[in-house]
Order: sequence, then structure tokens, then C-alpha cells
Amino acid sequence: MEKYEYFGGTPEVGIVPKAPHAGPLVRHVFEQEHGRGGFAGKVTHTYHLYPPTNWLAAETRTLDGRAWAPHWESPLRPVGGTHHALEMAVPAEARDVYRGMARLVANATVAMNVTAPRAPMDYFFEHHAATLLFFVHQGGGTLETMFGPIEFRKGDFLIVPKGVTHRFELAPGPQYYWVYESFAGDPEKSEAPTTGQFITHSRSDYRFPRTLDTRNEAGRFEIVSKVDGVYTRRVHPTHPFDVVGWRGDYLPYRFAVEDVRPLVADRSHVPPSGHTIFKLPGCYICIFTVRSVEKEGMWLPFFHRNLDYLETLGYHFGDFFSGGGVVREGMVTLHPVGLPHGPKPASLKAFLDGRNPSVHHEVGIMADLANPTQVSEFALSLGKPDYMQSWAAYTTDPRFAHRGDRLAEVRALAERHAAARDELRPKYPERE
Ligand SMILES: [Fe+2]
Repeated sequence: MEKYEYFGGTPEVGIVPKAPHAGPLVRHVFEQEHGRGGFAGKVTHTYHLYPPTNWLAAETRTLDGRAWAPHWESPLRPVGGTHHALEMAVPAEARDVYRGMARLVANATVAMNVTAPRAPMDYFFEHHAATLLFFVHQGGGTLETMFGPIEFRKGDFLIVPKGVTHRFELAPGPQYYWVYESFAGDPEKSEAPTTGQFITHSRSDYRFPRTLDTRNEAGRFEIVSKVDGVYTRRVHPTHPFDVVGWRGDYLPYRFAVEDVRPLVADRSHVPPSGHTIFKLPGCYICIFTVRSVEKEGMWLPFFHRNLDYLETLGYHFGDFFSGGGVVREGMVTLHPVGLPHGPKPASLKAFLDGRNPSVHHEVGIMADLANPTQVSEFALSLGKPDYMQSWAAYTTDPRFAHRGDRLAEVRALAERHAAARDELRPKYPERE
């Protein structure tokens, strides 16, 4: 025992050698490197009781992907110039997290999927082509990984890096997850140079596993891996969680939406990008969470057209402030590249009438995918046919429809408001 305690420069748990590939321990346990960037990027070493390649070769099979996960590779087609609102998926049969996975949209580097698991996983899973980000809209349980278990519940993100062996143990009750696959890189924490590393969350909010649950078990342990649309099953004679220690920074983790501390502005409207939490190649993920309403200026989104990204928005909780009562919890909207959108008429009326609530009681998960992004046949099967009608009152309500005196009215209003200034500002007596 040393006189004082220390921590090393790299996270580690359990029995590990003093440094990777060094010391006498490497002759007694089996070291495995999980390496990104051709071993020049993020790396973690795991130390095993048995060689990780101890598969039973004759039992390796390529599975029939269409039977194994019928909707994960749902055919894609161009979105075109129509907004879509997708109802919640209701699986016809009880399937597990992965066998029930269904694609919604995808571009070259990112896909968004949905799954509503109702069956246990009797195998372990490894995604060999993507890092997975789960958002738990409903449910909870334990994500068991080679690095240790991670308990999760409603409102959590789970990040499962590419290649990490894992399985889900589900708690009782309904489960519903949005699942983002990142094919070209891991999520990076988003932060702006001017607001620093603690807005809108801190790295200390991430929860990495620290409790090893080492299994020294013999039997038949199936691992299913996925690369694109190819699913392969292999069988090992020892439990894959035979890890006695690990060291590195390539790890699964949990991040709770309640730890997002959003940027708010009293006198202007924070654009969606101000709510970004993760950046991925070809995608950014924002969280609109419970926050105070702007006191002056716009508290609704401005009408906008996103010229480089298709916007997906998963409605997790509350009354979405621009939705005008059209969307419900669990639904997803797709707003394609270039097509204008913004507040629904009921919401805009509240703004025009100065009916500001004090708090936005809502949580929405927005993942915007770079152009070109395609929509799946599965997603289209969930589409509400009348969603484009949500903005219909803009053509029929006398407040928004054409009037001959409209131009003269706006000119008069502009003149009347020419000297208007915000209330929340420095006030000099000589100018008041
Ligand atoms: Fe938008």
C-alpha cells in the first residue's frame, strides 16, 4: 500500500497491468484492444479470463436479415417536399430491442430508428458498423456491457460505442426508444467557444460503468453482430463478460435529459443550434427541455427553412410549444430540407396576443440529418395523412388570410413602433 491515494490519467476499473501491453500480468490474462481510428484514436483495453476469439467455428452462421430484423433495413426513398408526422410504432409481435428495430430515416452517415421491445434478448449484440445512441422515451432496465452494467430509465440517453458487446435487460412495462446509428464517428459533446464546457451540460453528467460483473461461466453464448444489412451469429463456450479489468476512454455511458441546463434568452429567441448537445458526422442532436419562456422578443420558433438538413423531432414530454396541439408524446415529425415550417396557427395566435406562458413544459429530441436524407417505407406507413393541414388556418383564419388593406396596415404599424424599445434594458433618465 502506498501512503497516499492517486488516480491515473486514464479511466480504469478492476485488475489491469501498469500500462497496456506491459508487465507480468499480460502473461496471465488476455488483453484485447477496442481501437478507433485504426488504433490511433480512442482506445480501451479489456483484460479477459479467456481468449476473446474462443468461438466454436462450426457454429458461425450468417442470419437471414429480413427474418431476423424485418424493418431495420426498410427500403429508403427521397422525402420530397412534404412534411410528415409519424404516429408511434405499434409492433404486431413481441420482439426484442434489435429484432424489432425499424428504420425511419437515413443519410450516408447516420440513421434514425425506433424500437418498442417486449421480449428479452437471449443473445449478446455487437454493432460493427455504427455507434448507437438510444433515447429512452418509455421504459428502463439495465444495459449490460463488457465494461459493466448501466442502469437506465425514461429520459436517458445511452451511448453504445461501435463494437462493444452488450445486451439489454428490460424492466417490466412498456419500452419505447429512438435509436440513432452513427456510421462515421462517435458523438462529440457540443459546446460553443463563447459559452464554454458547462453549457448546456458538463462531461461530469456522463455516467460510465464502474461496477464490473465478471462472469466465469461455461456454456453456449451467442453473439450477433451487424455490418450494414448482414447479421452474423457466433457462439462462444465462455461468457463474454469474463473481463477482470479495463482501462481506456472508449466506453459506453448514460446521459440523463434532466441534466441538460438549457441556454435561455430574455430578449431574443435562442435558435435550435443553441440547444445542441451532440455532434456527429452528418447530424446534430438538440434537446428542447423545460426552460423559462423568453420575456420579450419571440418565444416561438420563427418560420424557417433548414436548407442543409432534414429535421426529425421526437416529442418526449409535455405540450410542444410550437405544435399547436397537433402532435402527441411519442410521435416524430420530419421536416425536409428547404420546406418552410414554424409555429402552428394556434401557437402563433397566442404569441400575437401576448399570451406568454412562464415556462416551456416540454422535452423534444431533435436530430437533424444532413442532406441528402431519405425516408423509409416503414416511416411512411406511420404517417398521419393530414399533417400538412396543420397549417391550414393560415389560409382561412381572417387574421392570416389576404386582406386588401394589409400593406397599409403594416406601414402604419411600422411607423407607430419605430421608436419602440425593450423593457429589459438600461434606462437613462434623460432619455425616458
Ligand atoms: Fe424546424
